[in-house]
Amino acid sequence: MSKIKLAVVFGGMSTEHDVSIVSGTSVIKNLDKTKYDIYPIYIGKTGYWYIYTPTNRVYKVGDSIDNISSLSNPIQYLSQMDCIFPVLHGLYGEDGSIQGLFELTKVPYVGCKVLASSISMDKVYTKIIFEKAGIDQAKYIYIRENNGKYIYVDEKFDEIICTLEQVIGIIEEKLKYPMFIKPSNSGSSVGISKAKNKEELKEAVTYATQFDKKILIEEAIKGRELECAVLGNEEVQASCIGEVLSAEEFYSFDSKYNNNESKTQIPADLPTEISEEIRRKAIKAFKAVNGMGLSRVDFFVEQGTNRIIINEINTLPGFTDISMYPKLFETSGINYSQLLDNLIELA
Ligand SMILES: Nc1ncnc2c1ncn2[C@@H]1O[C@H](COP(=O)(O)OP(=O)(O)O)[C@@H](O)[C@H]1O
Ligand SMILES: [Mg+2]
Repeated sequence: MSKIKLAVVFGGMSTEHDVSIVSGTSVIKNLDKTKYDIYPIYIGKTGYWYIYTPTNRVYKVGDSIDNISSLSNPIQYLSQMDCIFPVLHGLYGEDGSIQGLFELTKVPYVGCKVLASSISMDKVYTKIIFEKAGIDQAKYIYIRENNGKYIYVDEKFDEIICTLEQVIGIIEEKLKYPMFIKPSNSGSSVGISKAKNKEELKEAVTYATQFDKKILIEEAIKGRELECAVLGNEEVQASCIGEVLSAEEFYSFDSKYNNNESKTQIPADLPTEISEEIRRKAIKAFKAVNGMGLSRVDFFVEQGTNRIIINEINTLPGFTDISMYPKLFETSGINYSQLLDNLIELA
């Protein structure tokens, strides 16, 4: 049988560019070379596309790529492939934009399509879908910023235009401290802060507007952070559950990538009923956003009540060989290379 011509696309124009270099090179290294002819494509931070020639170098987060040469006609290049494997995280990679470009080439690609990608990248719209699906989540409100004015958007999508002071008043009326303030479209915790009082809330809201005009504010959940990986198109399987033990007050960018004290525990030490419920809810959430291929679904288990609360769904989760997504499946009996085969098969 002839080999599959597979493009692996990594890097990208998001804040998670550096993570994607580690994920992408790791995927390239672990793909079965007897099955695939691999065409690695690196997208620079500013959006230029390059052909990457793999070396033995093992990348760490923060390393810049070497061994690249420019690629002048990406669409034509991609069109000659049998399959495309995007290993991109965040904006322009995980949000449906590049998936739209792949649609134009008519080449099958790994993972979620345009709609699921863009819903899942947008924290506000993810909330709206989960609400519709009846999956428990943290209480939230949604605001926008426009030229120094704030817009509060209510449950019926009616809008109130107000000042920062007024919007803070509305938030305080609706939600209890501590709160999490998040740019709706972001990733790797960039732009996210926790606020315990009015001053911090004000600062957090203005800070978040630097990353997105759409902002989500949530009540903080006190509890454990648990993650479940899903794999499939119509028939979806869920992995065992992993736990994130953050070294800092919350799982911030530094705590994710720069703090060695942050640990993960796979499988998480949980009663069977709870892990089964998380797995069920992970599949339900994946279906609710119209997911395909893969996703990592993140939850909290609330301290005291054991209530399972969904946090978010990541349609292109970290994919280094020590990342949660591949580790969860490895522990569930599917090794990294088999997982890559499965994903390509599903595409
Ligand atoms: N409502 C919340 N309650 C408690 N912790 C939260 C809440 N929302 C976010 N966090 C913390 O912030 C981290 C990043 O938030 P998250 O919504 O997962 O953003 P990202 O998409 O950047 O990963 C989470 O891993 C968790 O540690
Ligand atoms: Mg997260």
